Amino acid sequence: MRTPGRPTTQQDEARKQRWENSYSNKDSSDLSWYQPHLELSLKLIERTGSGKAARIIDVGAGSSTLVDDLLMAGYRRVTALDISLKAIEGSKARLGAKAKHVTWIEGDIERVELPPAHFDIWHDRAVFHFLTSDEGRKRYVNVAKTSLKSDGHLIIGTFAQEGPTRCSGMDVIRYSAHSITAEFGEGFELVESAGETHRTPYDAEQKFMYFRFIRRH
Ligand SMILES: C[S@@+](CC[C@H](N)C(=O)[O-])C[C@H]1O[C@@H](n2cnc3c(N)ncnc32)[C@H](O)[C@@H]1O
Repeated sequence: MRTPGRPTTQQDEARKQRWENSYSNKDSSDLSWYQPHLELSLKLIERTGSGKAARIIDVGAGSSTLVDDLLMAGYRRVTALDISLKAIEGSKARLGAKAKHVTWIEGDIERVELPPAHFDIWHDRAVFHFLTSDEGRKRYVNVAKTSLKSDGHLIIGTFAQEGPTRCSGMDVIRYSAHSITAEFGEGFELVESAGETHRTPYDAEQKFMYFRFIRRH
């Protein structure tokens, strides 16, 4: 499904095309961010203590196996959103008949409109750090703020301060607990953070930080 949102600009189209190209030019397991399973994300989702009926959205889900693992763990209200149709199609093909248990959204997180106070858990691994414009980050935070329920959880994995400055030919912003808290501002309480060293398929090390916030009104 494509969601209605703000009208797209040439810049938005270029952003979408860049990501479509990433998924067209390589197998999923050759992409620098590939992990067979998003172990730390799964652990942080479990640590929210939300039941299996929790509504979970994976923002910039790409072709990751998080949705497979969430279904396997018994979560039954999983949404996967990505700007790239190619990535979504790849995940659907991998899941086969199980794909119908996931709500799929082809959309740009800077543009989509999601239902208000709807999700219990928002998950993002390696998407927010690509948002280098103040305006784009403000829009992202606003969508998260609006679509998360009160006391819902926001789990976000970004490059750490010792992480790379660029990825896939694009600039990124690296975060600490202090700087990410400043981005999300009032309305989000940081409850835990954890570091991870990701080893890319090309054997390079990338330092990540994961943060879990609770949406407070
Ligand atoms: C580095 S990949 C991470 C994919 C996945 N989260 C993982 O951990 O394997 C970033 C993903 O975010 C998607 N993406 C980038 N910008 C986006 C945006 N503005 N809205 C939605 N998805 C976006 C890309 O298509 C890509 O799948």
